[in-house]
Amino acid sequence: MEASATGNTPSQGPTAVISGGLGDIGRAIAIALRAAGARVALSDLAPAKTAAQRMPSFHYTRVDIADYQQVKTWLQAVERSLSVPTWIICNAGVVIPGSSRATSPALWEKTLSVNLTGSFFLAQLAAERMAKKKLPGRIVFIGSWAGEVPHPQITAYSVAKAGLRMAMKCLATDYAAYGILVNEVAPGIVDAGLSGKMMARTPHLREKTRQRIPVRRMLTPEDVAQGVVSLCDSRNLHMTGSVLLLDGGLTLKGPLPSSNADAD
Ligand SMILES: NC(=O)c1ccc[n+]([C@@H]2O[C@H](COP(=O)([O-])OP(=O)(O)OC[C@H]3O[C@@H](n4cnc5c(N)ncnc54)[C@H](O)[C@@H]3O)[C@@H](O)[C@H]2O)c1
Repeated sequence: MEASATGNTPSQGPTAVISGGLGDIGRAIAIALRAAGARVALSDLAPAKTAAQRMPSFHYTRVDIADYQQVKTWLQAVERSLSVPTWIICNAGVVIPGSSRATSPALWEKTLSVNLTGSFFLAQLAAERMAKKKLPGRIVFIGSWAGEVPHPQITAYSVAKAGLRMAMKCLATDYAAYGILVNEVAPGIVDAGLSGKMMARTPHLREKTRQRIPVRRMLTPEDVAQGVVSLCDSRNLHMTGSVLLLDGGLTLKGPLPSSNADAD
């Protein structure tokens, strides 16, 4: 694990950690949480030099979220540099296309280790520390409408996000008495990040996608960040174990067509 602090705006606010913090949604969340008064520490796979260019003045550590020991060491380092993290944003994610029929053990393992296992243990490690220190906190998972509606063309991702939802509910149950509220923001289709990359590869896909969304508008990373801020807000004292679904009505339309619709 390569650790580096690129500095941080001094503040007395809570310390927030964001995994996948150099991605499109992660960066928007970092900016929004800092504006909400937090000291923000990011982690991602890129070297510190890249982080310094993309997110100057944010505390950054290179961490593979699928590596339990690296995550543990990161949280300890953030605590030493800033304070005990009490706003935990589990955001790192990968999508590897593959239908149920085409999913290999390697694809499955990689997808679940990042999207599900990595996020779960980041939340669990941070929650245990908060509970030990008797500090209230907020944990927000960046889930997806794919955790609700089957996405057969990305089966492993859809399964991972469904599992993440149940992890969120179990953690919410276990930590509610400690004042640690655990929720999920479930975006629909964001015109950036993972789906932005896919849309950029296929001509006309962006417009076709927009037409499919009942509200005829794609999300921005800032929309997702706003949802995270509202769940972290100290005025939120009651919402836990819940899903903030920001999908423009997509879920109302039901499952996507089978990826094998034209197969034999
Ligand atoms: N873009 C969308 O339409 C959309 C929709 C629903 C949910 N989401 C979710 O939003 C989150 C952020 O995705 P995004 O769209 O900003 O994509 P992104 O690719 O811009 O960001 C994801 C970040 O996660 C990092 N990452 C991947 N594997 C990692 C690992 N092993 N360890 C540490 N970091 C790792 C990547 O390097 C990247 O910076 C993901 O959880 C994704 O599932 C995105």
